[in-house]
Amino acid sequence: MKMLRDIDIDPSPLADKRVAILGYGNQGRAQALNLKDSGIDVVVGLRGGSGSAIEAQGAGLETALLEEAVASADLVMVLAPDEIHEALYREVEPSLREGAALGFSHGLSVRFGFIKPRPDLDVFLIAPKGPGTALRSLYLEGKGMIGLWAVEQDATGSARGIALAYGRAIGCGRAGLIQSTFAEEAEADLFNEQAVVWGGVPELLIAGFETLVAGGVSPEVAYLECVGELKLIAELIEARGIAGMREAISNTAELGAVLGGTRIVDERVRERMADVLREVREGRFAEDLRHEERSQYDRLERARFEARQTLLEKTFRRLRAEDQPTD
Ligand SMILES: NC(=O)c1ccc[n+]([C@@H]2O[C@H](COP(=O)([O-])OP(=O)(O)OC[C@H]3O[C@@H](n4cnc5c(N)ncnc54)[C@H](OP(=O)(O)O)[C@@H]3O)[C@@H](O)[C@H]2O)c1
Repeated sequence: MKMLRDIDIDPSPLADKRVAILGYGNQGRAQALNLKDSGIDVVVGLRGGSGSAIEAQGAGLETALLEEAVASADLVMVLAPDEIHEALYREVEPSLREGAALGFSHGLSVRFGFIKPRPDLDVFLIAPKGPGTALRSLYLEGKGMIGLWAVEQDATGSARGIALAYGRAIGCGRAGLIQSTFAEEAEADLFNEQAVVWGGVPELLIAGFETLVAGGVSPEVAYLECVGELKLIAELIEARGIAGMREAISNTAELGAVLGGTRIVDERVRERMADVLREVREGRFAEDLRHEERSQYDRLERARFEARQTLLEKTFRRLRAEDQPTD
């Protein structure tokens, strides 16, 4: 694996190109602004009546309706929610110039067939490994966010150069760009969301909190122990790695971690993780996502509502002094 940095990347493939960013949300806003500040000609493509037009224009960006933006661009970056990519692509495909480049920041919609790009297009991935807010703030500090790059389709022979120049222009080349594929990026990202950082870790925190409370510990103490310390360990791991984090904590905490960690995350957990990866690869989650969008996000709305009613959330709000004790 070779990590590419600014010095390894030729910016010229983007120099005379016009870029259309479709969507002005988490990633769209950050990438459009970083491109503009890197001297790239950029237009933000939005649906009719979009509330984001005023905000984008206020930030000094040109905006246009989706089809107009696409028709005017050499490179089109799809930065709307993944589950609507299929409909969005169908809408704008007739406006895409012959031989244009089509970019994504997540491999899902191509990997799982939501989009089958026209054969004349260059198709690439630049996936910053973090949220748009951090991509923008790092860029403004003169730093960058590590990212993955991939080429799915090289119709013109220029796809690699365009992808890397794009990654450089949004600031990822300052931290490093790692070569991947649409399939690898999509599968690893979906696996992590379900099994590790976004799915597994919060459920572990909740289970720990509930176990302590059931054992007679006050919710406040249980919260501070099981949830409140997460930021500390995350910062230590980021700065020193997992082994370095262990060395930085007390011997008591370190021995507890050594004895307890593998009792909780045992072979059965690994087997279920392997099940998650297999199901992701079979496209089951992609189908669930499609279904969720078609059912107006019914399951997500219910889960959001239920999560707010729990004792853990009430404790969080009490500790943040946003809620008065009820008992
Ligand atoms: N969020 C992240 O941290 C992150 C990190 C890495 C990669 N990614 C990837 O980046 C891509 C964008 O994700 P995101 O989180 O930035 O998305 P997002 O914030 O949810 O995108 C919102 C934008 O999409 C537009 N949009 C929504 N529905 C639309 C429709 N039906 N037609 C046209 N435009 C529509 C919205 O338009 P209005 O302004 O009109 O509402 C808004 O401008 C995804 O592929 C995602 O996987 C995201």
